[in-house]
Amino acid sequence: MNGGEGSFEPITGDGRPVAEQPTYTRGQLALRNGQDRDEIWVAYRGLIYDVTRSRLWKRGNHYEHWAGQDLTRELDQDAPHTPNVFDRFLVIGQLR
Ligand code: HEM
Repeated sequence: MNGGEGSFEPITGDGRPVAEQPTYTRGQLALRNGQDRDEIWVAYRGLIYDVTRSRLWKRGNHYEHWAGQDLTRELDQDAPHTPNVFDRFLVIGQLR
């Protein structure tokens, strides 16, 4: 699907290019941790993914990780899977 390094173009929630997605601060992202609101968001490499519908992120918890944060380092270093797990999810913003 993703043709390799550099050609990654995720699907966005509103169909507009990633560069035109709204930006959110870490504080705004933190509100989408699965506890305070219904939305559950996770940031990876500057992009914010909506994982609300994932059964593996219920209430914002995924193994020992919590949504509402930039989990780039955690995914790259701790996860048993690749970032392709995000292929099923929409990008809804950029981390400011
Ligand atoms: C100890 C660390 C982790 C464990 C044990 C773990 C385990 C898993 C497993 C077993 C799956 C489903 C099977 C698969 O797709 O391979 C999964 C899916 C996923 N993981 Fe992780 N993961 C970890 C860390 C992370 C981190 C840090 C992130 C976020 C940046 C992440 C994001 C995801 C996403 C988005 C999915 C897809 C969920 C779905 O399809 O509903 N994981 N993870």
